[in-house]
Amino acid sequence: MGLPIFSVHSLREEFPALKQQVFGKELIYFDNAATSQKPRIVLDTLSKFYALENANIHRGVHHLSQEATMAYENARISIQKFIGAKTNREIIFTKGTTDGINLVAFCLGEELKTGDEILISAMEHHSNIVPWQMLCERKGCKLKVVPISKKGELDQEAFDKMLNERTKLLAITHISNTLGTINPIKKLIDKAHHVGAKVLIDGAQSIQHVQIDVSQLNCDFFVFSGHKVFGPTGIGVLYGKEEILEQLPPYQGGGDMISKVTFEQTTYNTLPLKFEAGTPHIAGAIGLGSAIEFLKSIDLEGAAIYEQQLTQYAQNKLAQLKGIQLIGTADEKTSVVSFIIDNLHPFDIGTLLDKQGIAVRTGHHCTQPLMDFYQIVGTVRASFAFYNTHQEIDTFIDALKRSMKILA
Ligand code: ALA
Repeated sequence: MGLPIFSVHSLREEFPALKQQVFGKELIYFDNAATSQKPRIVLDTLSKFYALENANIHRGVHHLSQEATMAYENARISIQKFIGAKTNREIIFTKGTTDGINLVAFCLGEELKTGDEILISAMEHHSNIVPWQMLCERKGCKLKVVPISKKGELDQEAFDKMLNERTKLLAITHISNTLGTINPIKKLIDKAHHVGAKVLIDGAQSIQHVQIDVSQLNCDFFVFSGHKVFGPTGIGVLYGKEEILEQLPPYQGGGDMISKVTFEQTTYNTLPLKFEAGTPHIAGAIGLGSAIEFLKSIDLEGAAIYEQQLTQYAQNKLAQLKGIQLIGTADEKTSVVSFIIDNLHPFDIGTLLDKQGIAVRTGHHCTQPLMDFYQIVGTVRASFAFYNTHQEIDTFIDALKRSMKILA
């Protein structure tokens, strides 16, 4: 049997949230970089779990606990296979991308010393800046920022120059949440490894749009959030190479992460539980597993091509409007169009679009240094998922013209 053919109309049927009206208009949801909507199967899984299967995991001899444990661990295996990790010991459940980055900053940070360097890029989200700043303060390391061009592309010459034997970690986003730029991460990973640095990829935006194979990428860490990939909020994944995770100290202490506790000494559990202290977000992990199974059932290659087409279509239409300036026009980009409008504040545009049923995000998108680089206060950002349509983009452009006229 071949792969299912990508069909936006049948896919949309799976997402109840898309079938509602806002202010009397059909909802057009263009805020997918902030969070994605949830397919019915994820909603059903969550509801069934809490209604019938709820129990704590790894602790009970009773039936429900064993069933919940199995469902939680099966979700881990689904995710492992989906991102091409070699073993389920490499999949750590976290609260989300931010939590995963903080975990690495804390645990890997223990190995760093004064003068070591951490390399990030100028297009990072605050969650891939602040934990490294905190680490640098703690350990006396140096944070170096690779610049970008006005188009929003990484300056690869500068990258090559900034990388050296003091670089201990490259932490970089795969896809920019504000610009949509796709970074050439395979190339960057190989170069960073060449000088002996480890690499963390922030996959918060890419997991929804690009098929990830962490083994092929050969990154040391890959982090993402469940809610951006059609799963629940409050759950995420840290992938780490087994041999590296083995060497790291634990992140938090508590239940589940221990092997033996006495008042004199504690020994820690094996991977992955060594990094999962306390009762985890059990329903969240199971819900994320179900989102991943949903993704496995669709033509992801077709979806990625379709999303590229949507992005190009929206970008071309916006470029034709007078007074609009696109922010982020990288050759390699997907699923995000960010823009500013002469003399108009992004919040005003966002508010007027909302009244016409269109959800976009406005502001700095948790990338204030990037806003400083462009010398702007914020942008209007429309971000697409595979359930959006060209017709929705047409409606959005009409609504935008109407909003601009009202505010002129
Ligand atoms: N990082 C998310 C966004 O870009 C919340 O909207």
